[in-house]
Amino acid sequence: MSDQIRVLIVDDIAETREHLAKLLSFEPDMSVAGTAASGREAVELSKKLRPDVVLMDINMPDMDGITAAEHLAAEVPSAAVVMMSVQGEADYLRRSMLAGAREFLVKPFSSDELSSSIRQVFAREREKQARTPITPIPGPAAAGQPRSEERTQTEPGRVVAVFGPKGGIGRTTLAVNVAVAAASELGMRTCLVDASFQFGDVGVLLNLNPKNKSIADVLPDLESGEIEGLDNFVINHSSGVRVLLAPPSPEVAELITPTAIKRMLEALRATHDLVIVDCTPSFNDVGLAILDMADTLLTMLTLEITSIKNVRIFLSLAEQLGYGPEKIRLVLNRADSSLGIRVADVEHSIGRRVDHTIVSDGRSVVYALNRGVPFFLSNREAQVSQDVLRLAQAVAGPRTADADGAKKGAVKKSLFGRR
Ligand SMILES: Nc1ncnc2c1ncn2[C@@H]1O[C@H](COP(=O)(O)OP(=O)(O)OP(=O)(O)O)[C@@H](O)[C@H]1O
Ligand SMILES: [Mg+2]
Repeated sequence: MSDQIRVLIVDDIAETREHLAKLLSFEPDMSVAGTAASGREAVELSKKLRPDVVLMDINMPDMDGITAAEHLAAEVPSAAVVMMSVQGEADYLRRSMLAGAREFLVKPFSSDELSSSIRQVFAREREKQARTPITPIPGPAAAGQPRSEERTQTEPGRVVAVFGPKGGIGRTTLAVNVAVAAASELGMRTCLVDASFQFGDVGVLLNLNPKNKSIADVLPDLESGEIEGLDNFVINHSSGVRVLLAPPSPEVAELITPTAIKRMLEALRATHDLVIVDCTPSFNDVGLAILDMADTLLTMLTLEITSIKNVRIFLSLAEQLGYGPEKIRLVLNRADSSLGIRVADVEHSIGRRVDHTIVSDGRSVVYALNRGVPFFLSNREAQVSQDVLRLAQAVAGPRTADADGAKKGAVKKSLFGRR
């Protein structure tokens, strides 16, 4: 990538194309690589010209900008798309972001907005490329980080289940960012598993949407015990995290058995330092198989009475399951929200201390979510990122005595006659 930002302008109106080209000609660090009048032409030209940034209109005849962005994400991933539209509706924004667009400009915009958006997108793309692992399999190294793939994998990696007995409390947010922190900052060979099998969100947070690469595709092998091909379905994210996505359609979740999950986690822990699993709040047999296998349960809660009540119930259930207190780490998310409940009240109510706290930062978290770039990468200095790093350091530490005991064959109780 040269220092000049090469921009492809895509709009069906000739006058708009000329106007945009003129605006860009005043920017010393930008040049117009070409212009296109439709989505289809944009994709064809991008393949030839390899622009750094594609300035894309949404509503165009032939092929619209969102479809063109999807094609570019697959065929010319180095071209970062900045979407332009007169409609600023949330649906357009979301669809554009899901299609891989990096930025969204609502027309009319000023020349300053235009140039600063292009610069930002370009800078982020360059940073991302610098981080891309040189040897993706089997060593997902982030740039400059000491890696542990050289270690002989005689010792199995640690399975960390990110759990919480209530929906919408930040499990996926935390699982994704802790995994990114462990891989990119701590140099750990990390695999993130989306075990929210029906409506997994990990792909959205990481802007990954490949075809035929999810747990669904490896299920037959997992069932038959032929798991050598598992690695082919794990995606390398640019942060260094390796990702096993949830099935693309919810009905597949019913076909997943505890046996398949156990085989999968055993195989992944044999080849990774850390296996982070984004769980659902449900207690079905598959969910319990994951909790059983985990060395550490990051049990999340928020400052809401329903969440606190459910954690209290879960803690007594965990005792019946034979999970020692060391296996469970309580993580209070959005801990600084002033909602009338203090951390001390929570601790008093559940009868144990909160082990980790994560601040509330809607701005960084939701912005990152809508862009498909984890906040740990895009907003590394934020307090929420620092909290995540501390948590990643804690889970990366020595394995708990409790979990080792479980591995050595400690007899565990069963709740509902699991398979
Ligand atoms: N620390 C935080 N500060 C601000 N917002 C947050 C924080 N953590 C999570 N959120 C927001 O809370 C919402 C729920 O988060 P997330 O999807 O990670 O939860 P979840 O427990 O995985 O939900 P689900 O039950 O749907 O799987 C999201 O909008 C997310 O951006
Ligand atoms: Mg989730």
